[in-house]
Amino acid sequence: MIIAKTLAEFTEAYGKLEHKSDVGFVPTMGALHEGHISLVERSVGKCSHTIVSIFVNPTQFNNKQDLATYPRTLEADCELLEKSGVDIVFAPRVIDIYPEEDTRVFDMGGLDNYGEGPRRPGHFNGVVQVVTRLFDIVKPAFAFFGEKDFQQVAIIKYFVQKLGYPLQIVPCDIIREDDGLAKSSRNTLLTAEQREAAPHIYSTICKAKELRKSMTPQETIAELTKQIDANSELETEYIEIIDADSLTPIKNWSDSENVRLWCAVYARPVRLIDNIGL
Ligand code: PAJ
Repeated sequence: MIIAKTLAEFTEAYGKLEHKSDVGFVPTMGALHEGHISLVERSVGKCSHTIVSIFVNPTQFNNKQDLATYPRTLEADCELLEKSGVDIVFAPRVIDIYPEEDTRVFDMGGLDNYGEGPRRPGHFNGVVQVVTRLFDIVKPAFAFFGEKDFQQVAIIKYFVQKLGYPLQIVPCDIIREDDGLAKSSRNTLLTAEQREAAPHIYSTICKAKELRKSMTPQETIAELTKQIDANSELETEYIEIIDADSLTPIKNWSDSENVRLWCAVYARPVRLIDNIGL
């Protein structure tokens, strides 16, 4: 496994790959856990070569504190990736990705109107900046994204089609801890009390499957918010019940055949997101 820490090192390593037309790519920000590794394993199983990027992308952080405290564990990450059968780890410097300021503004076709979009202004624009730049460099045939970030996968898919990238996006299931908490690099930032409270998010949102039989989407959201917030460690920022294709909230259950619930909950100052199909 080659660890390329600059664009020049990456270009050299990439040049030596035998099957350039069958590269699987897993973009990450590092601090890797089993969620990330599940994407890597999908890629290694499917493609001749797997490239993983580790880059904490400054343009997608709308909160300086979040960027500053984002965990960075390159050495441990590389050990995990080597064991998983990765060919190249691309861990570039900011200047390799942004040799000049990226001023591109992307029209998301309304996919950013709800969920994380309005709560993290500029976030998805930064994600699209970095992911398109990485696609241009890595030129993958397949790129693997986790449904943990449901809105992110939908937005990336939209741009792959809109901009005509010759690659396929492979959405991958959410990997959870045994207690149901979605695995996340940010989980390491939780206090012991918060970590104990956090599984309450998933166990509560799962109740929507029952509640929908007797409540409207609106009433379901109100009930789930009340139940999550009953735990003093947790504070719901939002719960939305949406059509999984348009990513817009539904008023009646019959409005969509593909219903998703997504949420963000604070265990302050850490912000946790999750989603489930209903
Ligand atoms: P990061 O948060 O490091 O996540 C990298 C990939 O791992 C994403 O596709 C994410 O959805 C997936 N992932 C994270 N936790 C997961 C889990 N518990 N189960 C399944 N998949 C999981 O998402 C980003 O980085 C960045 O926005 C990036 C796409 C790299 C652009 O900077």
